[in-house]
Amino acid sequence: SNLTQDELKKRAAYKAVEYVKSGMVVGLGTGSTAKHAVARIAELLRQGKLQNIIGIPTSTTTHEQAVSLGIPLSDLDSHPVVDLSIDGADEVDPSLNLVKGRGGSLLREKMVEGASKKFVVIVDDSKLVPHLGGSGLAVPVEVVPFCCDFTRGKLEELFREAGCKAKLRVKEETVAVTDNGNYVVDLYLERDMGDLEAASEKILRLPGVVEHGMFLGIATTLIVAGKSGLLVQNR
Ligand code: A5P
Repeated sequence: SNLTQDELKKRAAYKAVEYVKSGMVVGLGTGSTAKHAVARIAELLRQGKLQNIIGIPTSTTTHEQAVSLGIPLSDLDSHPVVDLSIDGADEVDPSLNLVKGRGGSLLREKMVEGASKKFVVIVDDSKLVPHLGGSGLAVPVEVVPFCCDFTRGKLEELFREAGCKAKLRVKEETVAVTDNGNYVVDLYLERDMGDLEAASEKILRLPGVVEHGMFLGIATTLIVAGKSGLLVQNR
């Protein structure tokens, strides 16, 4: 068949929305895949097939989309326990560990999805990788603006063995700023970084680092859309 990548993303998103039940507090992800899930939830609310949903957006972009579609919203301060979150990912390994944050929303995503009883990841099959950080894409790290080049250098040093190049993210020729007023350092690795938990700990121990885009042991369900259909995997 001739499904475009966007149609695959939409299929995965629609499948994930089947897990949403009336009365749930639902984490709303960010990106080109998650936006289909947000639109679908709004459609089912309009049709009366879903009721009493409270959405917890993971970015200002998703907040705006959800407001424009009339989805009632709240936040983690008022709803510290989220029933279900749905979001895309940049990379997914066979154990359902993820790299996220190419869109820059990793911190809010990790806060909301980490507070969720269930976290359904939705991807097209191009996102599946044998090892995180090995696909030539970056592992994003959110850093405070203060002396960000110092922090960038420290991050590069941490993964010298893996041939790491750390780059401050720029967008339209100026430094990219996150929803939280921070910057992003993208880690490009030539070899995989070995034990993921150890790598995570090392990154988080650096002063100046706010959070990184590896989501380890957070996803509970993966929905992959490919040309031959949908695949659902539970952790
Ligand atoms: C946003 O910062 C990211 O974590 C996205 O969830 C991730 O980049 C996936 O986005 P796409 O669905 O657009 O590929």
